[in-house]
Amino acid sequence: MWGGRFAAGPDAIMEAINASIGFDKRLAAQDIQGSRAHAAMLAAQGIITDSDAAAIGEGLLTVLSEIEGGAFQFSTALEDIHMNVEARLSQLIGEPAGRLHTARSRNDQVATDFRLWVRDQCDAAVEGLRALQRALLAQAEAGADWVMPGFTHLQVAQPVTWGHHMLAYVEMFWRNLGRFRDARARMNECPLGAAALAGTSFQIDREMTAEALGFDRPCANSLDAVSDRDFALEFLSAAAITAVHLSRLAEELVVWSSAQFRFVTLSDRFSTGSSIMPQKKNPDAAELIRAKIGRVLGAQVALFSVMKGLPLAYSKDMQEDKEQVFDAADTLILSLAAMTGMVGDMTANRESLEAAAASGFSTATDLADWLVRELGLPFREAHHVTGSLVALAEAKGSDLPELTLAEMQGVHSGITEGVFGVLGVQNSVASRTSYGGTAPVRVREQIAVWKERLA
Ligand code: ARG
Repeated sequence: MWGGRFAAGPDAIMEAINASIGFDKRLAAQDIQGSRAHAAMLAAQGIITDSDAAAIGEGLLTVLSEIEGGAFQFSTALEDIHMNVEARLSQLIGEPAGRLHTARSRNDQVATDFRLWVRDQCDAAVEGLRALQRALLAQAEAGADWVMPGFTHLQVAQPVTWGHHMLAYVEMFWRNLGRFRDARARMNECPLGAAALAGTSFQIDREMTAEALGFDRPCANSLDAVSDRDFALEFLSAAAITAVHLSRLAEELVVWSSAQFRFVTLSDRFSTGSSIMPQKKNPDAAELIRAKIGRVLGAQVALFSVMKGLPLAYSKDMQEDKEQVFDAADTLILSLAAMTGMVGDMTANRESLEAAAASGFSTATDLADWLVRELGLPFREAHHVTGSLVALAEAKGSDLPELTLAEMQGVHSGITEGVFGVLGVQNSVASRTSYGGTAPVRVREQIAVWKERLA
C-alpha cells in the first residue's frame, strides 16, 4: 500500500508485531458498512462517479459475504482488516477500488469501525442487563415476603425479605444499564472524514456519512476524532462495575447453595458434578462469573495504560485497544447470560431462609427499639439492656424469644409481655416500613415500580 516510498519489504518480525488482522477481522462488518457509506457520499459529492461508487458498493457486499461465509483469505502481510478488505475489493472490481480511499485514512476508518462495534456492545449489554433484571424481579415477586437473614460482616444482622434482597441487585444492574446508555449516547459521534488527523481538502459531506451510520452527528474536531478512545474506556468502566456487581451476586450464590446455608438450590442445568465425589453438585457457573471480573478489570487497566500519556493525534499504540475490549465484551455478555440462567432457574428454599432468619439473635434491634418506644429508654441504654439479654440467651443456649418474662425482667424490671410481639422475624420485617425498607408492603410497591420500568 505504501510501496512508492519503500525499497524493501518488512522483516518477518516487523510483520508479526505490526499485524492486527488476527483480531481486527472482527470489525469486518463495521469496516464494510463504513466504506459503503463513504463511497456513497463521495459519489453524492461528485468526488467519484456514480458508476465507480456502485461498483465499490456491490464489490464490498461480495467481500462481506466471502468473509461471513468463511471463504475469505486473510493475509497478515496486508496488516489489518481495512487493507485486507480493500485489497480483495481491488481483485474483484479493479481500478475503481483505488478510489475508495479518497478523503479518508485508516485513522478515521478504524476509529469509526471501532465505535460502531463498541456501540453494538453497549446495546447488547443493555439487553443482557434487562434480561437479568427480569429474572431477579421474578424471584423477588415469588418471595416478596419470605424472611431471610440480612447480614453485615457475613454475620446475621437483622431479618430481611428475599424480595428485598433480590431487588437490591435489580437496583445495581439498573445503574449499570444507565452507564452503558450514557456511554453510548456520548460515543455516538462519527469520526469518518477526519482523515489522517487534519481533515481533508475534498468537499466531503460528513453529516451524510454520520447519518448513514446511525451517528447523531460528526465529531467536531478531526484531531480528537482520530486520537481518542475514551468511548472504549467508558465501555470498559461500565463493564468493570457491572462485573463487580455480578461477582458479588455470584459469591452469594456460591455461599447460599452450600450445604451449610441451603438458601437456594441451583438447577442441574447450571451446575456440574465431580468426577470422584458422587454426591457433589458444584456452582461452577457462579464461581466462573466471580472470577471473570479479573479479565474485565484487566482489560480496563490495560487500555488505560495504553492511552495514558499518548500525544495527539494517532499513534500505533492504539491498535492495542481492540483485543482488550473484545475480550471484556465477550466475557461480560457471557457472564450476564449465565447469571440470568442461574437466577431464572434457581429455587429459593423458603424454610431454610426462614429458619436462618431466626438464628443469631436477629431481632435484637427490634427488642432495643421496643425498649425505646415502650419504656422511653434512651437508645444507648436500650442497646446495653438488649446486649445483656442476648448474653443471657447465649449462656442458656437459646434464642431471644425463648427467654421467660421473669428472666427478662431480671435484666430490666420494666419489660412486659408485649415485648414478645417484636421478637418474631415476621413482625420484625413487617415493621420496617420506612421508604426503601424491607417490609413486604414496601417490597411489593417496588416490584410494581420495576414491573412498569422493565415492561
Ligand atoms: N490497524 C490499525 C489500528 O488498529 C489501523 C490504523 C492504522 N493507521 C496507521 N496510521 N498506521 O489502529
